Amino acid sequence: MVDVILGLQWGDEGKGKIVDYFAPQYDVVARFQGGPNAGHTLYVEDTKIVLHQIPSGIFHQNTLNLVGGGVVLDPVTLKRECEKVAAFGIDVKKNLFISERTNIIVPTHRALDKASEGSKGNDKIGSTLKGIGPAYMDKTGRNAIRVGDLLDKTFISNYIKLRLKHQRLLDSFHFNEDISGWEDEFFEAIDFLKSLNIVNGEYFLNNKITEGKKILAEGAQGSMLDIDFGTFPYVTSSNTISAGVCTGLGIAPQKIKEVIGVTKAYCTRVGGGPFPTELFDEKGDELRKIGSEFGATTGRPRRCGWIDLVALQFACMINGVTQVVMTKADVLDSFDELKMCTSYLVDGVPKTEVPYQMAKVKIEPVYQSFNGWKVDTTQIKEPADLPLTIHEYVAFINQFIGAPVRFVSNGPGRKQIVELAL
Ligand code: GDP
Ligand code: IMO
Ligand code: MG
Repeated sequence: MVDVILGLQWGDEGKGKIVDYFAPQYDVVARFQGGPNAGHTLYVEDTKIVLHQIPSGIFHQNTLNLVGGGVVLDPVTLKRECEKVAAFGIDVKKNLFISERTNIIVPTHRALDKASEGSKGNDKIGSTLKGIGPAYMDKTGRNAIRVGDLLDKTFISNYIKLRLKHQRLLDSFHFNEDISGWEDEFFEAIDFLKSLNIVNGEYFLNNKITEGKKILAEGAQGSMLDIDFGTFPYVTSSNTISAGVCTGLGIAPQKIKEVIGVTKAYCTRVGGGPFPTELFDEKGDELRKIGSEFGATTGRPRRCGWIDLVALQFACMINGVTQVVMTKADVLDSFDELKMCTSYLVDGVPKTEVPYQMAKVKIEPVYQSFNGWKVDTTQIKEPADLPLTIHEYVAFINQFIGAPVRFVSNGPGRKQIVELAL
């Protein structure tokens, strides 16, 4: 069977740490969407590692890792990352696999991302500029080059055709940066990519399922950044929700068992777009400081605020979440008072549903207050040792979103996680 771990907010919920934690229980970890816009942080012993393209199960020798067909892959980032994990004694030739259907990010995709964002002025998305939007546009536009094509003799001529098409678009943006250096490293990385295990991802996974092996699908970004259900147009370009597992990996819906949603105990967002519970005061600064809320991919400060249960309930609904991991509970350790958003005033009208077009209406969050726990939680291992106030906080979330919080993460380290009794 297949279980899924995905983000329930606007990304950076702590998916990397949680996938790394669960990975030993699985035979394969497979990324199903997104690209190097993702930054998944995990700790190997005391060393912090940020993964952008490689699935977060890579540090477990007995777990295979697959980059699925729904992913957009930047070969340059992949090569760099393979070198990074190899330094930890990981043999990527043995336990990393790339689907033939994975779409390739070419240097001009990155240039187009930059040119397009530059042309948007105040309406810019705040893209990570990794070429994600343009790469997915070439996929739906049926122009993309896929990993399987690298082995075909038409690869170079198709690449040149694509580059010419991109050049015309770049000219229309008056983009004239010299990106020739990007192309040299791209072709070097393409050679490296060809030396990896390129497989038919859907047979790879479905054969494993038939053999009774356990698969963990790893999501990138978060549900509120989903191309269809997120805060459009301030979203990423892929389906980040559980449905993306089927299209991104070639797995049938009935094969999916647990959908494990990851949420912070508060909320963050990086880039532009609506964020109803954003705090602009010292409380927001405190969350950013204590939570080290700076983007793992771009280093940008993350916008911080209270947990938004309206958005979280929506995310649980569209994903079919069966259990929740609440991360960064320790970041709230020193707060006297905590708040959760339980409804919105949408243009002055009370609502308990996420509006179709969050970006076009004025949303004021309505909060319920809770007592802080005022205890250092970072060393706690047993649920009984967690303060009652955390249990109350979690119980309120459970009842509101209709899915149980089963794990509370209380620090960035591998072992800093408490499993709650159901
Ligand atoms: P991802 O994109 O969902 O994998 O999340 P990121 O790695 O971008 O951001 C999460 C950040 O929070 C990383 O720096 C993690 O090391 C850190 N982190 C994860 N879980 C916890 C936790 O429970 N407590 C604290 N303090 N930090 C955490
Ligand atoms: P992980 O997997 C947080 C945001 C960007 C921008 C919008 C579109 O680490 O949770 P894109 O580069 O996709 O065109 O950017 O989405 N974004 C993320 N925010 N975490 C991520 O990934 C993100 N990936 C993209 O900041 O607002
Ligand atoms: Mg991240």
